[in-house]
Amino acid sequence: MSNHPVDPRVIQLREMKAEAELGGGAERIEAQHAKGKMTARERLELLLDKGSFREMDVFVTHNAKDFGLDKQKFPGDGVVTGYGTVDGRLVYVYSQDFTVFGGSVSRTHAQKICKIMEMAMKNGAPVLGLNDSGGARIQEGVLSLAGYADIFYRNVMASGVVPQISVIMGPCAGGAVYSPAITDFVIMVKNTSHMFVTGPDVVKTVTHEEVTFEELGGAFVHASKSGVAHFAADNEEDALFLVQQIMSYLPSNNMEDPPLSNSTDDPLRQDEELDTIVPDNPNRPYDMKEIIHRIVDDGQFLEVHEQWAQNVLVGFSRLGGRSVGIVAQQPAVLAGVLDVDASQKAARFVRFCDAFNVPLVVLEDVPGFMPGLNQEHGGIIRHGAKLIYAFSEATVPKLTVIVRKAYGGAYCVMNPRHLGADLVLAWPSAEIAVMGPEGAVNVIFRRDINSADDPVARKAELVEDYRERFANPYVAAANGFIDNVIEPRETRPRLINALEMLQNKRDTLPPKKHGNIPL
Ligand code: HXC
Repeated sequence: MSNHPVDPRVIQLREMKAEAELGGGAERIEAQHAKGKMTARERLELLLDKGSFREMDVFVTHNAKDFGLDKQKFPGDGVVTGYGTVDGRLVYVYSQDFTVFGGSVSRTHAQKICKIMEMAMKNGAPVLGLNDSGGARIQEGVLSLAGYADIFYRNVMASGVVPQISVIMGPCAGGAVYSPAITDFVIMVKNTSHMFVTGPDVVKTVTHEEVTFEELGGAFVHASKSGVAHFAADNEEDALFLVQQIMSYLPSNNMEDPPLSNSTDDPLRQDEELDTIVPDNPNRPYDMKEIIHRIVDDGQFLEVHEQWAQNVLVGFSRLGGRSVGIVAQQPAVLAGVLDVDASQKAARFVRFCDAFNVPLVVLEDVPGFMPGLNQEHGGIIRHGAKLIYAFSEATVPKLTVIVRKAYGGAYCVMNPRHLGADLVLAWPSAEIAVMGPEGAVNVIFRRDINSADDPVARKAELVEDYRERFANPYVAAANGFIDNVIEPRETRPRLINALEMLQNKRDTLPPKKHGNIPL
């Protein structure tokens, strides 16, 4: 140890950093804790590998003078930014500090966020944003709005280049909601986070509806009704853990493949229970999640949008250590029918997986599109088209297993060979036809049934005949539309083998500026 006294300039630096770390001061930190919320720095500590965080722009302050702002300056200006690692992999982060001007976004606050976003794009690493903000810094007016627009622009430029994950850990209102909305995943914390374009007061004035913050834009509402949130976490710790879990399935950027994991789950494992899981009666529901759990590595399925449009399931799993994105019908909810929300949910997930080289596995049991005025007027034509578009343009390995129903337009939508699936397998329980037997005989044998001595018996006979002829996988197999009919127990080894076979898949789309997905 040196006997020289520490350089006073070093001491001064230490003091300045200690002051910066206090954000808006001890009192406001206490208030933050009293609301059940962590501070910006505490959150980063939990999110990142221990000791890996390197802060940037610690000494940035705002330049505004109006409304007495020239006398109120906090180093860092309400957002902690920098880089670190999650499970050893580089990430760029920002964490808004509610203790400084309510985490509101000034021009310089926005510039700090933009800086790390640009670095993330240049260096190919995800952007993780922890949002806790009162919105635009009111005193700064249009300068703040400019800052927001700068962030939005970079969100769009980074989309499909590096994964972007937003965690909402406090208020997120007005135009501020649009940055998270552009990112790939939005995680909200129950009770302490809210998202809305206009708050309860404005809603009351304009539409005379009286709503609470929670009813208008709480985690439950956005995770189950609007679909804005992909996950609703019980608390801040869980929300940050979810970020780590999502990251584990993803590559750092669009030029990489997702990381391989070392699973001890035997790739050749067969599961006899799968042979008995689909009920004999085609109208009886079953739980598709059980099939997923039995097929994938260690039964692990990270479900995305768990509470929204539950008739379709989307989420991440692994097969033979490889990340896969699963899209599956859930016959236990609305018979697994495709409706407006389910189509949007699945289409967006498919596009995410394709952008980040995550192979797609489809487990299909779809009786068709949801009929009704509501759906037609809600644009089922436009929204259903999104799913066709998403599957067709995806160039990642695409596998389909037809578990039971593949009827009508839904057969054409759910990643059939015709939309570019690399391998389509069917279980013997698969029913592939233009429509279900009941509906079909009603149309093509109406006169025959009506003129029969016993119309009920005649119809039953015709339904049975139709079922035997068409409601099976063998017509499609005879035409080469499905590549094989397999025993359900073989599904896991078959899929793992297919992923190995496709690991060097190369596929390109025709040159174009961009397509015109029916948004
Ligand atoms: C400047 C703000 C602020 C803001 C909060 N503060 N929001 N300062 N600009 N937007 C300050 C408060 O003055 C207070 O300072 C501190 O942050 C904490 O705020 P509180 O109100 O005490 O906290 P709380 O009771 O928890 O309420 C949080 C809140 C409320 C619901 C977010 O602060 C609020 O309604 N803020 C205004 C929200 C808003 O209208 N923002 C503009 C939206 S328009 P002190 O010094 O007392 O600690 C928008 C446009 C974006 O964002 C457009 C982008 C395209």
